[in-house]
Amino acid sequence: MVYFNYHIYQENTIKLYSYYMIKFVILAAGSGSRMKSTLPKVLHPLSGYTMLEHIVLSINEANFDAHIDIIINSSMQAYHTIQKLATQGNITLREQKQQLGTGDALKCAITPDLAAKYQQLVVLCGDTPLITATTLQQLLKTHRENKNFATCMCFIPESPRGYGRVIFNAKERFINIIEEKDLSPGQLQGALCNSGIMIFNTDGLAAILNKITPNKITGEFYLTDIYTLLAQEKLPAGIMQANTQEVMGVNTKAQLIACDQVMQQRIAARLMEDGALLLNPNSSYFARDVRVAQGVMIYPNVFMGPGVSIGCNSVIHSFSWLMGCNIGEDNAIGPFARIRPQSTTDSKVRVGNFVELKAASLGANSKASHLTYIGDAEIEEDVNIGAGTIFCNYDGVHKSKTIVRKGSFIGSNSSLIAPLTINEGSLVAAGSVITKDTEANKLAIRRASPQKSLPKK
Ligand code: UD1
Ligand code: MG
Repeated sequence: MVYFNYHIYQENTIKLYSYYMIKFVILAAGSGSRMKSTLPKVLHPLSGYTMLEHIVLSINEANFDAHIDIIINSSMQAYHTIQKLATQGNITLREQKQQLGTGDALKCAITPDLAAKYQQLVVLCGDTPLITATTLQQLLKTHRENKNFATCMCFIPESPRGYGRVIFNAKERFINIIEEKDLSPGQLQGALCNSGIMIFNTDGLAAILNKITPNKITGEFYLTDIYTLLAQEKLPAGIMQANTQEVMGVNTKAQLIACDQVMQQRIAARLMEDGALLLNPNSSYFARDVRVAQGVMIYPNVFMGPGVSIGCNSVIHSFSWLMGCNIGEDNAIGPFARIRPQSTTDSKVRVGNFVELKAASLGANSKASHLTYIGDAEIEEDVNIGAGTIFCNYDGVHKSKTIVRKGSFIGSNSSLIAPLTINEGSLVAAGSVITKDTEANKLAIRRASPQKSLPKK
């Protein structure tokens, strides 16, 4: 059965909200002092995205009817990632003025209309980047099926160090979470730990959160203290045990790298499922969103950043670096190729060793096989770019474009000074510095002076 809740909205507009809408709150304002870094903890990168972005990607993949609040601190506003996230329609940034603990951070997301708009609220930690869409769906399902007020995602880590311990009373359906620093020597030290991810019903949540008192030792408001209060109020709380790897928390750089390795294994497995053959995947590195078609072959030691797609049967040779580019079908890229953002290749293109593309498109059957810079260029089909060719796109102030029409041949060691068009079927003589558009089907030659034979000194 689907319940609906009518909510009076500004200017007397009546908005109909599905009562199954969910609020996600990502706690990300902590200073992250254990990272020993000036970069805010949740903005540290793994597999092409910041930790924070990975969580947003997983929430979006889960396809909930949801809104995401991200709790940040004031210094984070200046970062590009935060500004970019703020432009996503389903995200609201909320600033926690002082970092007074996870309980205080969650309070920043408690708006007067919360319970009217959303049935449940899911808390995620910005430093737990491996959570998947499937597990988030499972958390919601478990929570609803068990008719809990709160469900905490727990796990059994290899080492429980640093995690809050979960003490579970199955009979009474209540749990309690004790932070490591508050454990007394004689206290039960179970291996079950709090992942920091939990789901609450929204109705009544604000009142209970307000009852959390500061920790006697640290002065922080611990969200985990809410479970003692729930027991007092006789509101049922349960657990869902998650896969250990998915809820690994990152407090140190070593833990960041451990998470990244797990993410890399996941990505490599997915790329192979999609039809790529990765020769020694452990030596290559892929962003989370890299896409491959069937029959792709990737040699060892390849780097692919965000926004890369590789077409059917293309081969990427070792030591190639690709970012934000679309590689067509039956291409041969590298070894030692650098393909920068906004570059595209059509079918049967060859980009060889020490060739750099930047915002360049190469038409079908075109080749740049050795030692070349191609920036801000549109190259049509059947073009050959000789070794050592430089597309001179920058005059120190402006970037300009070069167009190379189909069937042209650029001789080795030529400089093409943009803006410029090399017209169809042109042959540019080796060593030329070309500053004017060439005539179609003609030889363009420009060398400093005729070759001379002089006596040896
Ligand atoms: C927290 C949990 C612990 C759990 C662990 C899982 C509490 C009190 N403890 O501990 O039980 O096992 O996560 O990884 O909740 N944050 C804010 N504002 C603050 C403080 C923190 O937004 O004032 C954010 C941080 O940016 C971080 C998240 O909350 O993303 C968790 O904070 P952190 O300091 O890492 O808590 P842990 O000690 O890891
Ligand atoms: Mg943490």
